[in-house]
Amino acid sequence: MIIIGAGAAGLFCAMTAGQQGRRVLILDHANKIGKKILMSGGGRCNFTNLYASPENFFSSNMHFFKSALSRFTPYDFLQLVEKHKIQYVEKDKGQLFCEGKASAKNILQMLVSECQSVAVDIRKRVEIKNIEKDSLFKIKTSDGEFECESLVVATGGLSIPTLGATGFGYEIARQFGLNVLKQSAALVPFTLQNKLLQKLDGLSGLSVDVSVSCHNETLRGAMLFTHRGVSGPVILQISSYWRPGDEIKINFFPDIDLYEYLIAMKKAHAKMEIKNILSEKLPKRLATCLCEIWGYEGAINQFSEKNLQQVAQQLQNWSLKPSGTEGYKTAEVTMGGVDTDELSSKTMQAKKVAGLYFIGEVMDVTGQLGGYNFQWAWSSAWAAGQNV
Ligand code: FDA
Repeated sequence: MIIIGAGAAGLFCAMTAGQQGRRVLILDHANKIGKKILMSGGGRCNFTNLYASPENFFSSNMHFFKSALSRFTPYDFLQLVEKHKIQYVEKDKGQLFCEGKASAKNILQMLVSECQSVAVDIRKRVEIKNIEKDSLFKIKTSDGEFECESLVVATGGLSIPTLGATGFGYEIARQFGLNVLKQSAALVPFTLQNKLLQKLDGLSGLSVDVSVSCHNETLRGAMLFTHRGVSGPVILQISSYWRPGDEIKINFFPDIDLYEYLIAMKKAHAKMEIKNILSEKLPKRLATCLCEIWGYEGAINQFSEKNLQQVAQQLQNWSLKPSGTEGYKTAEVTMGGVDTDELSSKTMQAKKVAGLYFIGEVMDVTGQLGGYNFQWAWSSAWAAGQNV
């Protein structure tokens, strides 16, 4: 069998198929394999999430991923990590990261050594020129011609072209008559209009705990101001619910009723400046900037109850209209891709084309932030690797 793409899904599928006794060749066009693994989790690779369940994924078919996720679970992957004695730690909500001396490099080494132990042939810098099929798949490459019974496409999504991402997997799907759903950048920072950016000038690099809403979803976490807009975990998460033209609502005081707090502060500290009152609970730079944007000046006793209501409304329900996202240049993942209706949820094989498989991010399955996307790579790769 041949696998195109030596990323998370491709390597895991190769190892699984090799353990079943299959002869496996992986072809990748990049100069290095597993680049996204190395970059992930700030170099510590958030390699799974212990609580991964179907609610953590998006797809046009919300049932598709259930079977693979339940057959190869986060605990199965963890067993492998423990076998290789890679140190890890559970961070927020089940997110497992490498820890101590262990880094993303060890996860990649683990996959490569498992592949080596079952004699997988991994080739880099190979350009795929043409794929044809009669009884076998015939693949013309810059490294010569190859034939195989099973072809697994593990080329990932469009995110971060500088890490080797291409839309080649979608081209293969279309060539074989499979439907491909529209793609969009996900887990991605928002950009803001220049006019607003100028007002937020000076906040770049500042992170603040907020809750953010978009449509019916409200999420809590760190928001980071950047020189192009806003980012940070909570923004990357909410970007999966956002569509161009939508507004998001930001609550800078997610733990309190700000109006009640301001009324109490007015009674207790009538002469205190409003910006200093806000600075008690927000970073000073941010409080000052927000006061400038909305023109809040002077001591709190100069604010009527109605004014304070307005202040609370603006700071707990700030309507922000992103001008767009940073796009595939920085997005962690790609939404959309090969239509799951075209694939078997048990094996990832194309229903119309015997022997053709799609695994990982190339298909229309996208996880939330927190280790879910790697878990999908492992689970889908395992499902295919068992079957090829
Ligand atoms: P992946 O992108 O890993 O691999 C695709 C492979 O195909 C690459 O090696 C590429 O070179 C190759 N390829 C592409 N086109 C080709 C062509 N034309 N010919 C031959 N080869 C080709 N997820 C998570 O769960 N936890 C995390 O901590 C992170 N962190 C993270 C950080 C950053 C910066 C990014 C960009 C992404 C993440 N992710 C993540 C997401 C995660 O990296 C992603 O979902 C998986 O790597 C997807 O695995 P795949 O194997 O499907 O694609």
